Amino acid sequence: MQEIQVNTEAKRYSLKIGSGLFSDDNAYSMLKNRKAVIVTDSNVAPLYGEGLLARLENLGIDAGIYVIPAGESSKCHNELIKIYNYLAAENITRNDFIVALGGGVTGDLAGFAASTYLRGINLLQIPTSLLAMVDSSIGGKVAVNLPAGKNLVGSFYQPEEVIIDPVLLGTLPDRHFADGMAEVVKYGCIRDSELFLMLENLENREEVMKNIEDIIFRCCTVKKDIVEQDEKEKSLRMILNFGHTFGHAIEKCFSYETYTHGEAVSMGTVFISELSYKLGCCKKDAADRIRALLGKFSLPVDFPKLNAGEVFDAVIKDKKARTDIVNLVLIEDIGKVRTEPFSRERIGGLIHEMLGN
Ligand SMILES: NC(=O)c1ccc[n+]([C@@H]2O[C@H](COP(=O)([O-])OP(=O)(O)OC[C@H]3O[C@@H](n4cnc5c(N)ncnc54)[C@H](O)[C@@H]3O)[C@@H](O)[C@H]2O)c1
Repeated sequence: MQEIQVNTEAKRYSLKIGSGLFSDDNAYSMLKNRKAVIVTDSNVAPLYGEGLLARLENLGIDAGIYVIPAGESSKCHNELIKIYNYLAAENITRNDFIVALGGGVTGDLAGFAASTYLRGINLLQIPTSLLAMVDSSIGGKVAVNLPAGKNLVGSFYQPEEVIIDPVLLGTLPDRHFADGMAEVVKYGCIRDSELFLMLENLENREEVMKNIEDIIFRCCTVKKDIVEQDEKEKSLRMILNFGHTFGHAIEKCFSYETYTHGEAVSMGTVFISELSYKLGCCKKDAADRIRALLGKFSLPVDFPKLNAGEVFDAVIKDKKARTDIVNLVLIEDIGKVRTEPFSRERIGGLIHEMLGN
């Protein structure tokens, strides 16, 4: 097992990474003498949720399970209220735990419930998708969506611990495994050129899985370093949004239905890399390598037919953009990025040029 200590102003906690951790009773020692409510989704519940419930009950832990329908549409106030009501019915106190068992949707929703119920109860994150293992379960961002946009209501709320067991990826569908790879490639782009090189030498999911603990460890290390320096995303943490500004815009233009988060991030990453080259920020080779790497892991790299005006509106409305300027994370070389402010006019012009309409 590998362990990473995350030291934020709000909390110090461990990320534990190891194959077999999920099935190890010792992993749950922090739940002793507490109540635990497992929040999971309808796909993960039969695979792992019910087994975890039985394990906790065997350990003498007073546990319950709350299952949300799988999918992004569950990251909403309706489901949130149902979770609050379940917690109230179970007489959950501040000393008790929510165990978020699932992908990023479950982690964000259950995490937001934990951050707000009784002004904050304990949270244990057990991510089950690759995206959640390398990204969403770490760093404390939790949120729900509004019809007006994704993640518009949320908070920063660090968990007590994150238990990452790559064995759980065995049942993850290929499409969602690829989603996670979009974030893995992101870490290579922004900070870890060795990771990028390592990924270039792996041909497919099977080969990635042979190195998965190391890959997750490297991604979590990058995220930990950034979160420790800028927990509340005032400056440095913005680099974690590399590829995401245009990714979010693409998701929005297709009403969050056609592309998954990771697929949109992949196209957004290609977009910003090619824009970085166009602006003279990086060499063509860097943008080409990024496109090739994402494509190799079955992620979309060619933009669909997009209306430049619609993309511009989505970029401007993205919650990360201030009204007068948009901060873009540009790539200088593999492993090195910088944040640069652009005026609305400039960004509008560049989107029109890039999309050719
Ligand atoms: N909080 C953050 O910092 C952060 C960062 C990145 C993304 N996100 C959020 O994460 C969400 C996307 O996360 P995601 O891609 O994990 O989506 P998800 O939670 O919807 O999981 C993807 C699919 O995989 C299934 N699944 C998960 N683990 C499985 C397993 N081990 N076996 C079989 N099926 C499994 C789920 O049921 C779901 O159908 C978005 O809402 C995004 O906004 C948050």
